[in-house]
Amino acid sequence: MTRITVNVDGTKYSDEVEPRTLLVQYLRESLGKTGTVIGCDTSNCGACTVHLDGTSVKSCNMLAVQADGHEVTTIEGLAKNGELHPLQTAFHECHALQCGYCTPGMIMQSCDLLKNNPDPSEQEIREGLEGNLCRCTGYQNIVKAVQQAARQGKESGQQSGQGDADGNPVDLNEAEQTVGATS
Ligand code: FES
Ligand code: FES
Repeated sequence: MTRITVNVDGTKYSDEVEPRTLLVQYLRESLGKTGTVIGCDTSNCGACTVHLDGTSVKSCNMLAVQADGHEVTTIEGLAKNGELHPLQTAFHECHALQCGYCTPGMIMQSCDLLKNNPDPSEQEIREGLEGNLCRCTGYQNIVKAVQQAARQGKESGQQSGQGDADGNPVDLNEAEQTVGATS
């Protein structure tokens, strides 16, 4: 067993894990973060996507010990102070889900996409989500939801004057937490 210390959704956890434990297993089975789901276990579907230090990773594709000393954000850490992240709201309003199984991963990947490209074209959204599979809704409304969240980010950036010198929108990931260790 190996001891790891990881900050997950703003809380610091220190646990003994087997070296072979996948990050997704640790999140679900040790921490009860069942919002992060397993769709394939072979790094194909993206359902297990979380953020590691702000960048999306497939948590079935890395070991828990590799997250030692890092910050992980799951879908359960996106809402802040009872307010949904703009992407969560957009997925809801655009009916961008049916069974919802792919949704946590889709949202986490979309978050990373908009962080790196706040005003993506439809093609760029489709390419940015190509590692995430949806088996029931189809991608039309998922793309619409990401477009809506991007528009909102752009508008709020213009209204608040928080866009950059080029008039680019604010980073939607500002809603994402930073380290807030409690133990
Ligand atoms: S469960 Fe990780 S990519 Fe499918
Ligand atoms: S909504 Fe069912 S897999 Fe995407």
